[in-house]
Amino acid sequence: MDVPVTKRCAVTSRRETEKIEIQLLLEAIFLRYGYDFRQYSKAHIRRRIRRHLELSNMENISAMQHRLLTDYDFFQMLLYDLSINITEMFRNPSFYLVIRKHVVPVLATHPFIKIWHAGCATGEELYSMAILLKEEGLFSRLQFYGTDFNDLVLQKAKEGIIPAKAIQEYTRNYQQSGGTHSFSDYYTARYERALLAAELKKKMLFANHNLVVDQVFGEMQMIVCRNVLIYFGKELQDRVIRLFYDSLCRGGILCLGSRESLRFSSLHDSFKQLVETEQIYQKKY
Ligand SMILES: C[S@@+](CC[C@H](N)C(=O)[O-])C[C@H]1O[C@@H](n2cnc3c(N)ncnc32)[C@H](O)[C@@H]1O
Repeated sequence: MDVPVTKRCAVTSRRETEKIEIQLLLEAIFLRYGYDFRQYSKAHIRRRIRRHLELSNMENISAMQHRLLTDYDFFQMLLYDLSINITEMFRNPSFYLVIRKHVVPVLATHPFIKIWHAGCATGEELYSMAILLKEEGLFSRLQFYGTDFNDLVLQKAKEGIIPAKAIQEYTRNYQQSGGTHSFSDYYTARYERALLAAELKKKMLFANHNLVVDQVFGEMQMIVCRNVLIYFGKELQDRVIRLFYDSLCRGGILCLGSRESLRFSSLHDSFKQLVETEQIYQKKY
């Protein structure tokens, strides 16, 4: 049965209103706090805002907008919701297998190796890479930079604490990623938490950096930015890839997440993909 025209109009008008409300909300966040979500993927932003609306029991998005303009804590909660911080150690073990086999020989040609993990969330990705490169004999030459635009997750990354209930899964990931020791060599368990080895932390610096508005971070031998671009719109992805290009030395390595790619980037021809199975690229000489 056909939906009556008046009903169809009402649905269209609700969607249109929501679209405008979201646009205004993102503008308000930018003007008030400087965080720019205006070029994030629209579907992602809509999902997160709807979820936040439900959780905060507010009447509509306009009410949310008013509240966040005057209430910094409310904004922080929304920011936390907009930035999905899910991560794990040795996430996608096949990625780390390729790093061992194809990237380590490239990194080994550098006397000093600077690695930037952009959008590092609570840091599990840096600790995993530090363990791997330690096992591959490159530890003394390393310096890691972990950045994110969310201070709450950066604080956790600095602490290097993982929940004990995740250890079993992380041990499995570690083994599948080609780990050559015992994963338990790298943490001390304390009740329901485990503290990652202090030695690993010595090589890490954490800082707030916003990929949308901040500039080049320094000249890196490798940049790892996984599961971040997926939340960005096409133009913003392009801007960030340009930022990575400018931040890499010649022959530097760029690692993206399994659902991200340089295929549609204007800089596609400036990189070569190292292996077909992973989104790992090398900046051309
Ligand atoms: C899903 S997590 C990915 C964590 C890790 N890279 C991984 O793959 O396991 C995405 C992270 O990107 C961060 N992020 C999102 N937008 C950002 C931006 N504009 N600048 C810096 N970090 C951002 C979020 O705060 C979040 O911690």
